[in-house]
Amino acid sequence: MALVVTSYIHLKIKARMPHNHPTLINKRVLLGITGGIAAYKTPDLVRKLAELGAQVRIVMSRGAEQFVTPLALQAVSGHIPHNAQMTAESESGMGHIDLARWADIVLIAPATANFIAQLNQGSGHDLLTTVCLATTASVVVSPAMNQQMWKNSTTAENVASLIERGVAFLGPDSGEQACGDVGPGRMLQPQDLAQQLAGLFQTRELEGKHVMLTAGPTWEAIDPVRGITNHSSGKMGYALAEAAAEAGAHVTLVSGPTSLTAPVNVKTIHVRSAAEMHAAVFADIAEQDIFIGVAAVADYRPVDSSDQKIKKNHDEMTILMTKNPDILADVAALKKPPFCVGFAAETNDVETYARAKLERKKLDLIVANHVGGSETGFGSDDNIITLITSSSKQDLPRASKSQLARHIVSRVAELST
Ligand code: PMT
Repeated sequence: MALVVTSYIHLKIKARMPHNHPTLINKRVLLGITGGIAAYKTPDLVRKLAELGAQVRIVMSRGAEQFVTPLALQAVSGHIPHNAQMTAESESGMGHIDLARWADIVLIAPATANFIAQLNQGSGHDLLTTVCLATTASVVVSPAMNQQMWKNSTTAENVASLIERGVAFLGPDSGEQACGDVGPGRMLQPQDLAQQLAGLFQTRELEGKHVMLTAGPTWEAIDPVRGITNHSSGKMGYALAEAAAEAGAHVTLVSGPTSLTAPVNVKTIHVRSAAEMHAAVFADIAEQDIFIGVAAVADYRPVDSSDQKIKKNHDEMTILMTKNPDILADVAALKKPPFCVGFAAETNDVETYARAKLERKKLDLIVANHVGGSETGFGSDDNIITLITSSSKQDLPRASKSQLARHIVSRVAELST
């Protein structure tokens, strides 16, 4: 079943894994376990998710602990599972809002008929249901129950209503059940469930498109050991490159200096200065359908960069600077420009400044980045953004850069086709 996204968003990989195989690398999976016999399979499920590259955190319902021990789950996940009784400690460590924000995807496995009913009602009576209410991530349900309970008309209505609202269902499987019945209601096997979950990220929204991005800071050398740069970590641009590749695009990432690992399935070109970034972009821009400028490009560079380390011989020093080329504006000014997306990091009057950049640089879409807070923007894992075109505006709440990247990719796919 395809992942339907209505709310806006929806360990290391084994070296032998083929590159086009869906993975969960860099994905944060919040596994919610409810009280059914299939819960005994969840330690294996955690291992299978981790083998595909996922980071896994666990929330157990009160009933789940009757079927699987928190200790077993802690051993395989490396983290203490969160349980129904929220303590002051769990709240100060990672409370329900932090957990809800942390997740790229929330997988409920096994999900009982009772949990499905609660989810449909919007109940927030324990940690797991509260996290489901508070998250902007996609919620995926893997049901496990007696075949008659699955066929029950109330359950069927709950499932239909949740699907309508964007919740995805994986399974159930059919076969012999723990109670002796035969029919639909078995939880998918952990291996299949992990693979199908990874497959949900492969949206195909940009299938076959050529997408180029810039990311990270630039480094404008003053001498061999000093330079002018900024606090961009590259996280937003790398997350977008990854999301575009998952959406089926051929992705070229032109990256300034960062400490990040190049995303899989992405051609990554490393550069240092704005001039190098400009040259790398223009070497291949004619092939691109979409261009996304995420990099924090230095506006100016020193006119002269010394070949040797400058000595401290003077009390004062003046560095004459000259303007760098505007990569994004130059791309948008091409005779046949690709679909052009810019970013605008602003602390105040965010929309006004972003709109001005949209118009001045002749862009199709601008992502206004609210960088006033300490936990969003440059260097952080989260962002707060507004998507602006000449005729539309969409505010997105604070979320992880990877969640936002998937949303931006969906919007670009909508607007560019
Ligand atoms: O890397 P992170 O730590 O994750 O942080 C992400 C980010 C905050 C750097 C990113 O989300 C962001 O907002 N990048 C744009 C920063 C900015 O405000 O750039 P600007 O206003 O100087 O430029 C506007 C647009 O023109 C940007 O798309 C920029 O890439 C592009 N530009 C600017 C100057 C220039 N010489 N060439 C360009 O292509």
